Amino acid sequence: MFSFDVYKERRNKLKKAVGSGLILFLGNEEIGMNYRDNTYHFRQDSSFLYFFGLDKPGLAAIINVDEDTEIIIGNEPTIDDIVWMGTQPSLTDIAAQTGISKVAASDSFGTLIKKSMSSGQTIHYLPPYRSDAIIKLGSILEIPNIEVKERASVKLIKAVIAQRAYKSAIEVAEIDRAVNISNEMHLAAIRYSKENVTEKYVAGIIEGLALSAGGNIAYPVIYTVNGQTLHNHPTSDILKKGQLVLCDCGAETAMHYAGDLTRTFPVDQKFTSLQKEVYEIVLKAEQAAVVALKPGIRFLDVHKFACEHLVDGLKQLGLMKGDVKDAVSEGAHTLFFQCGLGHMMGLDVHDMEDLGEQYVGYSEGVIKSKDFGLKSLRLGRELEAGFVLTVEPGLYFIPELIDMWKAEGKLKDFINYDKLDAFRDFGGARIEENFLITESGHQLLGEPLIKSVSDIEGLSRL
Ligand code: GLY
Ligand code: MN
Repeated sequence: MFSFDVYKERRNKLKKAVGSGLILFLGNEEIGMNYRDNTYHFRQDSSFLYFFGLDKPGLAAIINVDEDTEIIIGNEPTIDDIVWMGTQPSLTDIAAQTGISKVAASDSFGTLIKKSMSSGQTIHYLPPYRSDAIIKLGSILEIPNIEVKERASVKLIKAVIAQRAYKSAIEVAEIDRAVNISNEMHLAAIRYSKENVTEKYVAGIIEGLALSAGGNIAYPVIYTVNGQTLHNHPTSDILKKGQLVLCDCGAETAMHYAGDLTRTFPVDQKFTSLQKEVYEIVLKAEQAAVVALKPGIRFLDVHKFACEHLVDGLKQLGLMKGDVKDAVSEGAHTLFFQCGLGHMMGLDVHDMEDLGEQYVGYSEGVIKSKDFGLKSLRLGRELEAGFVLTVEPGLYFIPELIDMWKAEGKLKDFINYDKLDAFRDFGGARIEENFLITESGHQLLGEPLIKSVSDIEGLSRL
């Protein structure tokens, strides 16, 4: 964790922004995978990490803004904990790591909150995303589980986002580290890809690299020859000559800051001419979008700009026709690019998505669209210095979607449906990089990772 001053300062800022009441933070618990004691790998809640840095299960925190007190809630280690897990720090020692001197036992959590409720204090909490947290809050606050999420404190949500959205220098350094580990994963992904090995074989090596670097994967590895499926996970299928692999993977550091990169490359080192043409359309769109990144521009407009480049390339390929801007405003490009250009990144790979996409990625002046394509754009708001985000355009040929649109004759003034048969088995291509928005523009995070056709073809395989 960072030094405890960092967390104290963050909490002081939060207290000021929230103004009054009681702020609750629930850390995450262990969750049984197939029985209670065989748990999923533990991942702490990211807001709990941001304000307290304590990376252990079974903790919670109460900040009483009116009395200016902070309490860490948890349990002292029992002799059984020590027998099974070794020497454990006391709760007081854990709290001291984040600069808090007051602790209370887990079974007093409800009583402490109820006491505040009966004295009329407002209780602020973030929307929980795990069922155990929903049940716990529902029972303490005496509200039906179904209402727990919607009654989360908007004031707290906005105050947390107003801090977490702007990455400090020490956070950027940590994200940089995550991206560099992710770079190593991608180089390995390309080098280990060859005929007659399975997708899972390569994906396992990549995942191992994230763990070896001291952290973990930031999200389940996407490594697939069916890149048209946006979040496809590796299978036991064997790689074959001529196939195109889409690999979207990233590491999180030991402190849980994420990297999130995508590269697309041929199984057998050389792109076919069609693969190269499609790949280079995506590359051009990515490069154009990156150049546009700077404070003051809406990411929604960067997204549209990237879509125009994709349409332009697809016109040259003979798949689209008509006016480029009209095609994008009608949504014709969504036959090939069904998602958004990027998202915020930080302690979560989709940073703060649990707090609500409208609050995180949009603003009062930029409302999230419900239209196909734009509904999957997680970031639309005006960019500001300190934001960290991904840029990840792609082209995806989804046979079912092509058939559906073709049968409807949808947007046929922009799409050459008769030319699409040759692309039914193409798969998909995506390129993704991570950027910091700076006062003067943007900065690539991590060292540059190969992305030109010649550099990818030139990387020797194992
Ligand atoms: N890397 C996965 C995603 O951005 O959705
Ligand atoms: Mn991403």
